[in-house]
Amino acid sequence: MIIKPTLRNNIFLSAHPLGCEHYVNDLFEEAKQLPNFGGPKRVLIIGGSSGYGLSSRVTLAQNAQASTINVSYESRPKDQRTGTAGYWNNVAFIKQAQSLDSKHYDIIGNAFSHQTKAITIDKIKETFGQIDLLVYSLASGARPNPDTGEVIYSAIKPIGEDLVGKTVDIASKEIRDIHIKAATPEEVQGTVYVMGGEDWQLWVEALEKAGCLSKGFKTISYSYVGSGAMDQIYRSGTIGKAKDHLEDTALAMNSWLKDKYQGEAVISSSKAVTTKASVFIPGFVSYISCLFEVMKELGNHESILAHKHLLFKDMVYGDKRLVDAKNRIRVDHHEMEPRVQELTKRYLQQYQNESIFELSGTQLFLTEVHHNNGFGYADIDYDQDVDLEAILPKLDN
Ligand code: NAI
Ligand code: NA
Repeated sequence: MIIKPTLRNNIFLSAHPLGCEHYVNDLFEEAKQLPNFGGPKRVLIIGGSSGYGLSSRVTLAQNAQASTINVSYESRPKDQRTGTAGYWNNVAFIKQAQSLDSKHYDIIGNAFSHQTKAITIDKIKETFGQIDLLVYSLASGARPNPDTGEVIYSAIKPIGEDLVGKTVDIASKEIRDIHIKAATPEEVQGTVYVMGGEDWQLWVEALEKAGCLSKGFKTISYSYVGSGAMDQIYRSGTIGKAKDHLEDTALAMNSWLKDKYQGEAVISSSKAVTTKASVFIPGFVSYISCLFEVMKELGNHESILAHKHLLFKDMVYGDKRLVDAKNRIRVDHHEMEPRVQELTKRYLQQYQNESIFELSGTQLFLTEVHHNNGFGYADIDYDQDVDLEAILPKLDN
């Protein structure tokens, strides 16, 4: 198969296995340049096949010598489909991890189901016995009710007033107007159901019931606070309500985990980075392009891997934790600096048309979004036929 990027509405429908391997290898290379730290030894990651979950997995494995189990929902190649980027990232991760002393496993399944929880618990019992850390890094558009099977959808929408703005089309490099209707109460509820904390809590409860939590057990999930520029669609929108719920869930779990395990449940407010999930948020591409431009100019730009390394090394397992009044770990402090926010806003005003493509921040975003799907690497020949069957591993269980 000859694999080229195919996009629909800024979503990549194809992924290149060799490019995904390149992406994962680069994460490991970056981690190798960073200092090691003492951390958890047995980690379960929900959503570790891409984005923040994958970077968490790489830094924990490479820099803290952790063993990992990753639960993700990805598709293997089939007929004319290349398989998802996350699928190939998993393949590449396992290949890289062979040179580590730790053990790494993948479970492909819907994290929201009772069945996936049961399979994962069996895997923990047969391998690590218990876990020291659960990273809950899931981003999904739908969640089946685990008891009834009814599928509930999330909707990334503003609340109250419609959103009128601009969006960048990645494939055509055009600017399009967007008009997103304010969410209905059902859409707010649905988004909280999918992206709130309920499933995270179900995981922790199932793991605890099975005796899988070690003394000192920690769990972390990722939130976003963000700025004025993204506020209407993010923190004041449907996803903001879901994040409120996620953060409340952390506070509630934190108190009993502290009592029973001398452990904790925490939220980290993470910075905006290029992932499958973030690109899906209306207006995000313009925001991150301008943000990248500013942070590069000011010299405080961070990569996704470096961001997660800093989080775990200094703030989760180190003694340099920054927290706010809601007990959220603020590892987004560089993005939130007033100077960064002010300049980003100014650029967003200034670059409302195709001129945004002249920014090196936009170019960096475009490079990253292609890399996320295995495209745009100079040393890969994209005209070469790829024999997917030949590189298909025996990964699925
Ligand atoms: P992503 O799309 O790169 O990763 C999502 C992960 O969830 C993938 O591993 C995917 O396989 C997995 N997943 C999705 N549905 C699943 C299901 N039903 N069962 C099992 N696994 C499933 O997304 P990203 O951006 O890394 O998001 C992770 C978390 O980080 C989210 O909670 C997001 O809100 C948060 N976050 C992201 C920021 C960003 O700028 N990307 C900023 C701050 C927080
Ligand atoms: Na992730």
